[in-house]
Amino acid sequence: MPSANPTPVKVDYASFLSDEAKGRVRSQLKELRPYFEIPGMISFGGGYPHPSTWPINGMTLSVPFAGKSVFVPGFENRDSSTLLPLAKYTPPAKTSVVGPDLSNDLQYSAGMGIPFMVKWLTEHVKKMHDPPYPDGQWSVLTTAGNTDGQDGIYRTLFNKGDSVLLEEFAYPAALTTAQSQGIVPAAVPMDGDGVVPADLDKMLEEWDEVARGGRRPKALLLVPTCSNPTGVTYPALRKREVYAVCRKWNILIIEDDPYCYLQIRPDGADSPLVPSFLSMDIDGRVVRMDSFSKFIAPGSRCGWITGPKPLVQAIAHKTESSTNNPSGISIATIGAVIQAWGGHEGLENRYLPHISEVYSQRGLRFVALLEKYIPGLTAEWPQPSGGMFLWLRLRIETHPSFLSGRSTPTEIQDRVFKTFIEERILTAPSSYFKTPGGPEWSREEEAKRIFVRLSFSLPTPEEMEEGIKRMARGLKKEWGLEQ
Ligand SMILES: Cc1ncc(COP(=O)(O)O)c(C=O)c1O
Repeated sequence: MPSANPTPVKVDYASFLSDEAKGRVRSQLKELRPYFEIPGMISFGGGYPHPSTWPINGMTLSVPFAGKSVFVPGFENRDSSTLLPLAKYTPPAKTSVVGPDLSNDLQYSAGMGIPFMVKWLTEHVKKMHDPPYPDGQWSVLTTAGNTDGQDGIYRTLFNKGDSVLLEEFAYPAALTTAQSQGIVPAAVPMDGDGVVPADLDKMLEEWDEVARGGRRPKALLLVPTCSNPTGVTYPALRKREVYAVCRKWNILIIEDDPYCYLQIRPDGADSPLVPSFLSMDIDGRVVRMDSFSKFIAPGSRCGWITGPKPLVQAIAHKTESSTNNPSGISIATIGAVIQAWGGHEGLENRYLPHISEVYSQRGLRFVALLEKYIPGLTAEWPQPSGGMFLWLRLRIETHPSFLSGRSTPTEIQDRVFKTFIEERILTAPSSYFKTPGGPEWSREEEAKRIFVRLSFSLPTPEEMEEGIKRMARGLKKEWGLEQ
């Protein structure tokens, strides 16, 4: 296993760019941008709509704090004290704007995004992850969420016929986006702490482009916290080991971390977050994606990418011809909400621990119900690490049809899924998330790698209990146990 050498390894970023990224033709008008900022400049050079034509004079948001949302059952408060006159409008000025302001946010923005949000997110990233290489060498780019971020990263790094390393069980869009772009996915085996460093090392050592049908991988993409689908949170030690292997083979790490702030923190704000890959990235080989989807709202369609400047800039060039940065209305709204909560202090030390507590309670209640109703012979599950998902392992090795040799593990998995449907309980089988290109497992090993993804983010306590009773009935039926 490679050791954790603290001397930075030099990364040649140009060698990671795709042909699309290298060949991107940018509008020459983009080059005028810096001149707009010069004080006293009169511009006949741009094509910006006049703000007097925008039919929004201001916006008023109702911004409740923890637990006071009208979506919390029984909480009906529409108290006017929560009404926040958000979006002021000040005449456009060539000074830096420090908060949401419609005159800037409804205008076209360029580069990394609307300046106040890019600045705020850069401070946030510094506080939460403090990337261990010089500040001027990493940047933040706002995105329309991690789905958009991932598309930008794939298109910027990979050519058709390149390979990407994915977790053995991966977020489906990581897999399908790669496949749709002709990128060849390769599964890295996982255990309860994430991808297995020794297996990753071996795969790279033995990489055979012809047998694999794909060139040597440039990057490993993973979901390190409360993963979708596996619920796994990589401990810091595992991250260091994976990082060391990626250094050894000059692989980039794409850290897709939308559930980061949903991890269980027993002492709230006093419980530190598990260190991210970005926080240990001494070389500048991590490209990290964050999203507002899970702690503000998925419909905000906003997120951000952090990584080495040359790569983030190359992704930003792709954005210029697709989203042209996320919606300004959305950014203004998010900015105002964060401001109402109290900026960094309010979001980071009060709101994020609150969100993690909401999901922790749900996860712990869910597991207590599994323990109460599910027969131990049929399934096992880990303690939740937070987030929205629990990865329940079907104990196929004890199933009568497996023991008699009548059925394969996958056939049994399919039958269990159908039985759950008959019982009116919807689950997601692990076959939906399985990355191709992994090792060939024996029948016995395969039997140990059959899971069900259970989501505890939405059901009421009553629905959770009823749903788990139905699952228990289905499992007993399948395993031939007495009801
Ligand atoms: C692992 C993972 N990545 C990315 C996304 C998409 O996030 P966004 O809403 O920011 O596009 C999700 C959403 O479920 C997810 O689970």
